[in-house]
Amino acid sequence: MIELRELSPEDGIDIYNMLQEIGPGENGFFNDGYKYPFDNFYEYLLDNYNASRGIELKLGHVPQTTFWLIVDGQPIGIAKLRSYLNYALRESGGHIGYSIRPSERNKGYGKILLKEALSKAKDIGIKEVLITCNEGNLGSRSVIEANSGKLEVIKEGLCKYWIKLSE
Ligand SMILES: CC(C)(COP(=O)(O)OP(=O)(O)OC[C@H]1O[C@@H](n2cnc3c(N)ncnc32)[C@H](O)[C@@H]1OP(=O)(O)O)[C@@H](O)C(=O)NCCC(=O)NCCS
Repeated sequence: MIELRELSPEDGIDIYNMLQEIGPGENGFFNDGYKYPFDNFYEYLLDNYNASRGIELKLGHVPQTTFWLIVDGQPIGIAKLRSYLNYALRESGGHIGYSIRPSERNKGYGKILLKEALSKAKDIGIKEVLITCNEGNLGSRSVIEANSGKLEVIKEGLCKYWIKLSE
C-alpha cells in the first residue's frame, strides 16, 4: 500500500525519525525538519502546513506543500511541491524537490515518489514541471528520466529537466 500523504500538524515521531535519518539534506535538497528537537517538531509542522496555504511565507518564497511517501504505513521519503515558479526557482530548485531516507534507497521508491508527486502537481493545475538536479546526481537523473523528464540544458553543473503532464 503506497500513498503520498500531505504533511499534517498532527504528524508524529515516525515522521520525525525519518527526517533525522535524512539529515540536513544533500544535492540541493534541503531538509529543514532536521534542525528541530522533537519537543519543537510541532513548530516545523505548523510552519510547513502554513507555507502550503501561503500563510506567513518567508521572503521570496512561494507556497509549497510537503508530502510524505508512506509504504505499508512506514514513512519512506519526502517531496516538496511548489505551487508555481519564481525567478530563483526557475534557475535552481524547480517545482519539486525530494529525498528518500537512506535505508530505503535503491529499491525503486525514488521513481514512485516522483510519479506520485507529479500527480499532485497535475491536481493543482501545473502543466509542465521543472526539476533541477546536479549533473553528477545519477540516481536522481534516473528517477527524473524514468518519469519522462526531458533535459533542456546543463548549466554550470546543474541539469534542468521538464516533464509535461498529460491533459
Ligand atoms: C536521488 C534519490 C531520490 C533516488 O532515490 P532511490 O529510491 O534510491 O531511487 P530508485 O531506487 O528509484 O533508483 C532510481 C535509479 O537510480 C539508480 N541509482 C540510485 N542511486 C544511484 C547512484 N548513487 N548512482 C547511480 N545510480 C543510482 C538506481 O540504480 C536506479 O536505476 P535504474 O533506473 O537502472 O533502476 C535518493 O538517492 C536520494 O534521496 N538522494 C538524496 C537527495 C537527492 O539527491 N534528491 C534529489 C535532488 S534533485
